[in-house]
Amino acid sequence: MDNNLTLTFVTADGDRTPVKTESGTSFLDSAREVDIDVVATCGARGKCRGCRVKVLKGSVAPPTIMDEVQLGPDEVHEGFRLACQTRIIADTEIMLAPPQTEGGHQILGGGDDASRRAGIEMGSGVEKNFVTAVIPMDEHVQSSDIEEILTATGASQSGPLSPDLLRKLPAVLRKKKGAVTVTTFNGNILDIEVGDTTEHKYGMAFDIGTTSICGSLLDLDTGEQLASVGEINPQSVYGGDLMSRLAFAQFDLGNLRKLRARAIQAVSGQIKEACEKADVAPEHIYKVVVVGNTAMHHIFLGIDPTYIGLAPYSPSIRDAVEMPARDLMLKTIPNATVCMLPIVAGFVGADAMGAILATRIFESEEIRALVDIGTNGEVIMGRKGKLMACSAPAGPALEGAQIKHGMRGAIGAIEKVYIDDDVICETIGNAPATGICGSGLIDAAANMLKSGVLQASGRLRNKDDESLPPALAARLSGSGGKAAFILVYAEDSGKDEDITLTQEDIRQLQLAKGAIYSGILMLQRIMEVSDEDLAELQLAGGFGNYINTASAVAIHLLTPLPLEKITYVGNAALMGAEMALISETERKRADGLAKEIEHVSLAARMDFQDIFIEAMGFPETKTDDPIAKTGT
Ligand code: FES
Repeated sequence: MDNNLTLTFVTADGDRTPVKTESGTSFLDSAREVDIDVVATCGARGKCRGCRVKVLKGSVAPPTIMDEVQLGPDEVHEGFRLACQTRIIADTEIMLAPPQTEGGHQILGGGDDASRRAGIEMGSGVEKNFVTAVIPMDEHVQSSDIEEILTATGASQSGPLSPDLLRKLPAVLRKKKGAVTVTTFNGNILDIEVGDTTEHKYGMAFDIGTTSICGSLLDLDTGEQLASVGEINPQSVYGGDLMSRLAFAQFDLGNLRKLRARAIQAVSGQIKEACEKADVAPEHIYKVVVVGNTAMHHIFLGIDPTYIGLAPYSPSIRDAVEMPARDLMLKTIPNATVCMLPIVAGFVGADAMGAILATRIFESEEIRALVDIGTNGEVIMGRKGKLMACSAPAGPALEGAQIKHGMRGAIGAIEKVYIDDDVICETIGNAPATGICGSGLIDAAANMLKSGVLQASGRLRNKDDESLPPALAARLSGSGGKAAFILVYAEDSGKDEDITLTQEDIRQLQLAKGAIYSGILMLQRIMEVSDEDLAELQLAGGFGNYINTASAVAIHLLTPLPLEKITYVGNAALMGAEMALISETERKRADGLAKEIEHVSLAARMDFQDIFIEAMGFPETKTDDPIAKTGT
């Protein structure tokens, strides 16, 4: 056998094992030859994702159909492959068992126990009562098992009882001579169990985002978090961003069913995982609060989202929704009630409502802004008694789409850029660069502005410009619309080509950041709030965690405030869901707030074009621009 190629296995810790192997051998077989363990649950049939690897360097054959099905187009595009399906055709480096969570950027959970409970009235609405009910004995007294239970507990049943509960009732009541625990939610019976189980009262909060789904298992009495779970939204195989997901489901109920099945499966899996982690029986989960953008909300409920994507972008329902988990096919939690937080407007969804609850912006004496940067950015601004909201269609550029070398925040993505006399890029996982993610794009643009490579007009400088240091000038190529700036030369990258930012990429960034900034500017204008009047700008959502706020200010993605006024509030949407889980007062508050918040439709405003053009521009650079060298 002619072992003429080198396959190098790299672990997450950076340990490298080069192996000589024959062209055409699968990655999995090469690993087995040298006793490197690779999970292959399905027996190398391409059906389990267990053998997922990330190609760090070198060329690989085109993906197989199994790669496409198991990993989805985004991961395949970013160099992920199934080791059992991929054969070596050139010297290659691969990372074994790369993280599942976007390969580097963590999926964010909710808040800690203290912040979740701070200043809120505890009371989940779930009650467990241990009672001894009378077992009907006397023929002369007309009674029934359920009537005796209601008498013993004083429960005010107003809704229908579940058929499963009625079926098990005769045996449960008689097993310990009527000694039962009755669980109710807002007075309605959810379950009846033999003996005393009052200690076990749990609930889960979920944030179903376009990119990721995360959940949190809480003790309903104490508010303590018992487990936290998260994963990439498995719907992403049908489209990475919100609009492509919506397009997939529009006017096609079959596709809607596919998307819904993936969401339900993911949530069911996370419930199981969280219960195993915390050693909790899923039957003891009684309340689930779910937030998500309007499209995810509708898809989760199986409601056709077609019209959310078409003017006037109206949802089918804005009010809070409450229904038994069994009606949603969440079979793992037969006794739970699922509560969806309300929606403010088409693109200001239940996730925004969760963030509003969590940040307490509605209680603020001073004017604050809450900004969630995403494909569809959301801006909420105001103070106690007056809140306004708008959504800003930024498009997927900040998620790496529509950018020549753009990619999500996965291993190998440039996430930080430093420019002085030359360029230094940091990548996620310190892997050779294979592209640039949104936070890297913002950092790159800010530093290119500061160094003069990029002009305030948005034009890349000419490579002959003598004002630039020679090393920077050498990285410029082309002119006009074809101009580009090399961030990482081919020999240092994980691809066989230079990683560049093109003039068109800069244009896409301007459109995306202009959309978000115009949302902020518009609300400032309508509410007559100057920059000085803004006490704080809170950044929410997964993306906000990774951007360098100084760079975001330097390119006018965010309002030019002193950096200490810009704070990051984490996954506020999930934290709001957790609050509504442990406090019915908060859940009901959300209903009232959703109706009070004034929604501004940007596109319908006559002055939007002017504001958008202003927001797309870059500021003139000053030598003291606060671009932090260390990143956020
Ligand atoms: S071993 Fe299951 S997908 Fe490769």
